[in-house]
Amino acid sequence: MPTLFDPITIGNLHLKNRILMAPMTRGRATREHVPTPIMAAYYAERASAGLILSEATGISQEGLGWPYAPGIWSGEQVRAWRPIAQAVHDKGGLILCQLWHMGRVVHPEFLDGAAPVSASATQAPGDAHTYAGKKPYARARALGLGDIPRVIEDYRRATINAMEAGFDGVQLHAANGYLVDQFLRDGTNTRIDAYGGSIENRLRFLIETTKAIMSVAGAGRTSVRLSPNDASEGCADSAMGALFPAAARALDGLGIALLEMRNARAGGDDYTGNTDEDHVPAIRRAFKGALALNSNYTAAEANAMLASGAADAFAFGRRFLANPDLPRRLKDGAPLNSADEATFYSQGEAGYSDYPHLAER
Ligand SMILES: Cc1cc2nc3c(=O)[nH]c(=O)nc-3n(C[C@H](O)[C@H](O)[C@H](O)COP(=O)(O)O)c2cc1C
Repeated sequence: MPTLFDPITIGNLHLKNRILMAPMTRGRATREHVPTPIMAAYYAERASAGLILSEATGISQEGLGWPYAPGIWSGEQVRAWRPIAQAVHDKGGLILCQLWHMGRVVHPEFLDGAAPVSASATQAPGDAHTYAGKKPYARARALGLGDIPRVIEDYRRATINAMEAGFDGVQLHAANGYLVDQFLRDGTNTRIDAYGGSIENRLRFLIETTKAIMSVAGAGRTSVRLSPNDASEGCADSAMGALFPAAARALDGLGIALLEMRNARAGGDDYTGNTDEDHVPAIRRAFKGALALNSNYTAAEANAMLASGAADAFAFGRRFLANPDLPRRLKDGAPLNSADEATFYSQGEAGYSDYPHLAER
């Protein structure tokens, strides 16, 4: 029976264990969204993960509305990512680039005052983080049928850039209420064309985008992240039990290597709405490739689910943020550092690359 500490081959990737680092935005790039050298130190010290999923990385200026988050659309950004991927490889690790278009939750401040784009003309509730503090989200402009191929091309180009930067593959960020999720869910997708209405139509953007990514990275280096949980950023669906297994089935048909999910857990994830409805078993049946789960799992819970065949790997977010040597700590049952929320998105090394390792024995 596999445990977290056993290797696994996922597509073209040979992971030394089944402990993934979940993607986490940390805001340590420049204001121009160029990665910085401290990011190499941060990721390299977490290279004992079987696989690192990078922080969400903007595929285009249009898609990135997070202060100091990195992008991967320019040559300068690609050059700055290279030493980061290299530093992870030098420590024997693997890293995928999580590709991000935030859709309607890009504040106009990031767009020279223009409206953000989304599946439909909706407005997210609440406030955006901007360089000038929190500001209410703006109403989005619906992407026209003529715009959609251009956005998908941005994903394809970003994948080319990620592979040139030395990433081991890419993960499409289709979770957490961002652009792909906005197309998936009927609360944010009210289109009446081929990209809206039925579940089949709402899956179209996900499928076309995944195909574009796979055409560059190959299926064996392509992952998708879904979040079959309650609304994130107000992005809701009326029938998730139908939508997400259908999405998993469609991704299975494409043959992607890894489906990673921030799944709903009763009392499990204090960052998204909790729900008692568990879509994981249906998704497991629908998707035959490797399935990784995320959200506040303990090592014991994860090992029990690996043993029962409920999943193939687990992604850890806040625990990895606070414990650069998380696999070793989990294996030894060592105490864990707790994560300091105040420095999640702050600048500099404090609360970033200065969490203590276990003392060397
Ligand atoms: C600081 C922080 C940043 C995050 N940024 C991202 C992100 O860029 N992309 C993403 O898909 N999820 C992001 N998440 C969600 C995490 O990947 C993960 O789903 C969440 O923290 C729950 O898992 P955990 O209980 O292991 O922390 C972020 C979470 C935190 C705490």
